Amino acid sequence: MNDPIRLTLLSHGMGCGCKLRPQFLEKVLRSIPQLKDPRVLVGTGSSDDAAVYLINPEQAIVQTLDFFTPIVDDPYDFGAIAATNAISDIYAMGAKPLFALNIVAFPSAKLPVEILETILKGASDKASEAGISILGGHSIDDEEPKFGMAVTGWVHPGKVLANNKAQPGDCLILTKPLGTGIISTAIRKELADEATGREAVSWMKTLNKVAAETISGFPVNACTDVTGFGLMGHLSEMTRGSAVDAEILFHKVPFMRNLDILVEQGAISGGTKGNLKYYSAWIDWDKELKESQRLMLCDAQTSGGLLFSIPEEYAGSVLDSLHMNGISVASIVGKITQPGTGMIHARF
Ligand code: CO
Ligand code: CO
Repeated sequence: MNDPIRLTLLSHGMGCGCKLRPQFLEKVLRSIPQLKDPRVLVGTGSSDDAAVYLINPEQAIVQTLDFFTPIVDDPYDFGAIAATNAISDIYAMGAKPLFALNIVAFPSAKLPVEILETILKGASDKASEAGISILGGHSIDDEEPKFGMAVTGWVHPGKVLANNKAQPGDCLILTKPLGTGIISTAIRKELADEATGREAVSWMKTLNKVAAETISGFPVNACTDVTGFGLMGHLSEMTRGSAVDAEILFHKVPFMRNLDILVEQGAISGGTKGNLKYYSAWIDWDKELKESQRLMLCDAQTSGGLLFSIPEEYAGSVLDSLHMNGISVASIVGKITQPGTGMIHARF
């Protein structure tokens, strides 16, 4: 084959290829009856990253599952990003990953099998980096490639990091820059240069392992990872779940390079636009924040960083530790201001 295969063109979705719209998902989940099981520590009752199920007083299982359509053309990177993203929800719960299973949809009549092998290789290399094995999985023939993993982890029941325990006075810290949704869209529209694309891919392939291990030594109140709902969406789930209000400072938020230019050029995914529309109900936008800056804060991420909330007196030392462990981009992006209904004041 001479022409490089553009995996992203095989996916019909022009969005981030991942999450359903938040309003859609919330509605569907509400209509499904739930069995009462006292061992369920975290389930569909909260909007948390993974399920947590108590085994004994010392151990709980953490289970998550994530898959999506290609967001990059390189099959190795696609596998590695999907694996990084799937394992991330384990880290976001304060848990340790144990093993994973692959979820594969592949158009075997349309694409050579080497492509699938390369996707799986990318995933397995990333799993090794996380210190886990992939023990099996399930594959189906499908028009459109899709890949992801179900990941099992464990946590001490007293050490679960939920996203609904943020406290007034906490600082909010983010461990990766935003921009993967805008840049993926820009790549598809051929607006992004190579270096910009490479930077986004390298962030999407960065495990949240070091960040999670670093913050595990501190009294973190709430944690989530930033993915399809964007920074504002995931923060909104945190503030509404915790019954607190927050403040976010645009100029403190780390962004990937050229993001403002790419947004102005129209590299905005449907997911990002949807996030801005939906979550603005809980956001008080300062007038000086331009539409493009609001979109940047709402950008649907793939395999984004951790967003956590920690008492102010520990914010400086956890930030120092993150920087010392190589996560130099980690920044305080705002704070939890007061008890409330989940409103976020977005300031410049
Ligand atoms: Co998550
Ligand atoms: Co997820």
